[in-house]
Amino acid sequence: MKILVAGKGGVGKTTIAALLSHIFSNHNYKVLALDTDSVPNLAQSLGIPVDKAFKITPLTKNAELIEERTGARPGEGWGVLFSLTPKVDDIVEKYGVKIKENLNLVVVGSIDVSKEGCLCPAIALAKAFLRHVFLKRKEVIIVDAEAGAEVFGRGLAEKFDLFLCVTEPTIKSLIISKKLIKMARELGIKKTILVINKVTNTLNAAKNYSKIFPEENIPYHIIRFDPTLQEVEMKGLGVTSLSRNSIIVHDVFMLFNKISKYAK
Ligand SMILES: Nc1ncnc2c1ncn2[C@@H]1O[C@H](COP(=O)(O)OP(=O)(O)OP(=O)(O)O)[C@@H](O)[C@H]1O
Ligand SMILES: [Mg+2]
Repeated sequence: MKILVAGKGGVGKTTIAALLSHIFSNHNYKVLALDTDSVPNLAQSLGIPVDKAFKITPLTKNAELIEERTGARPGEGWGVLFSLTPKVDDIVEKYGVKIKENLNLVVVGSIDVSKEGCLCPAIALAKAFLRHVFLKRKEVIIVDAEAGAEVFGRGLAEKFDLFLCVTEPTIKSLIISKKLIKMARELGIKKTILVINKVTNTLNAAKNYSKIFPEENIPYHIIRFDPTLQEVEMKGLGVTSLSRNSIIVHDVFMLFNKISKYAK
């Protein structure tokens, strides 16, 4: 099962992707977590110490690897021939970070052409890698996407089985999510769950949901606001440092229960 975690900036994508990765792997799924943010921080959320997380080079920034595999250095592109089918089948083993048994992370870096400057060898490598893992790896793949709609524009989104559209319970955030869900649908992503995060008043969140999604039957899942998350983040720690009884762990576990039904 390939799960895309996307939504507007700061809504909780990385936190939810990290918690789901741990919960899936704790329940005997093999998990591959992929960070495609241009400012990657999934490693830290997964529990890698800050100084170590800082040292991970995203694939799209690894000039040596890019040159070795595509024949051109990042930034080159115009007028330079490079391979669009680079070797990528060893990347998880060689460049992945083992978080624990059954859970690996690859920091891909941004696949957004505008963020990388051009359709350069870096993007070619990242895309070839993503196509490869989607096709060949028999794991639960959880992608923490860059904020916004870019992920729906580049011929990758349609490969996902499930889109977790993370949103805040505000009208503004829900309207943006509605647009993202429409884009996902048009691309043919079969299943979407609207994940309404940072909820302090469940009733008001549900009311806003029905205002913005009056006739559609997009399933939604509520994750309540959890003040302990900030305490953990203030110490530079990841989701593994949250108490097992914390609100967010509970609510993401309920989300896992829903998703694992599709995964079977
Ligand atoms: N349920 C929650 N309760 C309280 N705080 C939360 C909750 N979910 C996320 N946050 C907080 O919101 C902030 C943003 O979370 P996170 O980094 O996961 O969002 P993001 O969508 O990945 O952001 P970006 O778009 O920058 O990648 C963090 O400080 C996080 O602690
Ligand atoms: Mg993030």
